[in-house]
Amino acid sequence: MSTTEPRRELSPLEVARAAFQRAFERRPEFLSRAPGRVNLIGGHVDYNDGLVLPAAVDLEIAVAFTPRDDRRVRLYAEGFDEKAEFDIGELTPGSIDGWAAYPAGVAWAIAQAGLPVSGLDAAVAGDIPIGGGLSSSAAVEVAFAAAFHQVSGLELPELKLAQLGQTAENQFVGVQCGIMDQVTAACAQPGKALLLDCRTLGIRHVPLPAALRIVILCSGIQRELRTSEYNERRRECEQAVSRVAAVDDDIRSLRDVEPDQLQSLLRHLSPPLDRRVRHVVGEIERVQLAATALEHKETERFGELMFASHRSLRDDYQVSSEELDGLVELARQAPGVIGARLTGAGFGGCTVNLVTAALIDDFLGYVIENYHRLYGHEPEEYVTDAARGVTVEKVGW
Ligand code: GLA
Repeated sequence: MSTTEPRRELSPLEVARAAFQRAFERRPEFLSRAPGRVNLIGGHVDYNDGLVLPAAVDLEIAVAFTPRDDRRVRLYAEGFDEKAEFDIGELTPGSIDGWAAYPAGVAWAIAQAGLPVSGLDAAVAGDIPIGGGLSSSAAVEVAFAAAFHQVSGLELPELKLAQLGQTAENQFVGVQCGIMDQVTAACAQPGKALLLDCRTLGIRHVPLPAALRIVILCSGIQRELRTSEYNERRRECEQAVSRVAAVDDDIRSLRDVEPDQLQSLLRHLSPPLDRRVRHVVGEIERVQLAATALEHKETERFGELMFASHRSLRDDYQVSSEELDGLVELARQAPGVIGARLTGAGFGGCTVNLVTAALIDDFLGYVIENYHRLYGHEPEEYVTDAARGVTVEKVGW
């Protein structure tokens, strides 16, 4: 794929709109969309109350929808060519499986929050690779949160849409993700990374240099145990907190461990908890340094911190894979690279690379050729820019 060619002829919004007309034999009244994300730095710290620095990318989930005057929801997923239908009043966690659990979970979460929620007819389409670590699920949740928000006449801030999405995923779908992905899908600004304090939910938008682009490289390998290993890391962090809290009762989460306390606290932790804590505490510090470097336009420094983040995720948090390490190592040697690391939960999936725009083709040529030589297949590539969070528009005629 050449980097100058469009990825596909029709945008997800156009595909969703046409799919709605096919499925429901009329035109949709509204369109919502929410983006996927990469995490530039701050891996596995959102559920430790830490700081993260993600950016939304221009891959997205689009929903074409029309309000209904009852509480029925009829859905059509273009990518799967499948329909689903439910009544909002009858939803309980576990009552819906598969892709429809995400929109259903959002309707359920809105109702659980004590807010009115109306039904809709909707078609959904998207170009975020599923299961690649680019958070297609958060994009689905936030795009549907915006759709239900619109048809129910609510007036909530974007951050609240993100929280409803996370509630849907944690309590309805049953995946214990943090808040980073949903906040990025809801609140990101174009051309900027988003510095999110996962404890206070405070956000600072940090401009990315215009001369850089975000390159996503997908290893094409997904470990089966992804969710269970993710949950296990969360449990390990909780265990570590209870051990260190016994030494210092001001510590309520790993966010409270200061870097200069780390060495003395590590003595109280047995493997692998000591490594997990070293990653989390080091990573939160790296995010702060990286945000400052970006604000001071010190891109080289920013890149070094991305590589350091990857090493820590590989060696201390142990969520990388051979292919992801290979992609990061090849990126490190390639022309034009600023920094590279695994993005998302890890255990397979994608890397995020910051690359000088003028050298993208040289960068890709080097990494793809050598990856193919080493692993026998080519990684999938997406060259993107930092995109806008959720939007809703009325369909014009
Ligand atoms: C997944 C989760 C996020 C976050 C990352 C790791 O993407 O959904 O909440 O924990 O993993 O940084």
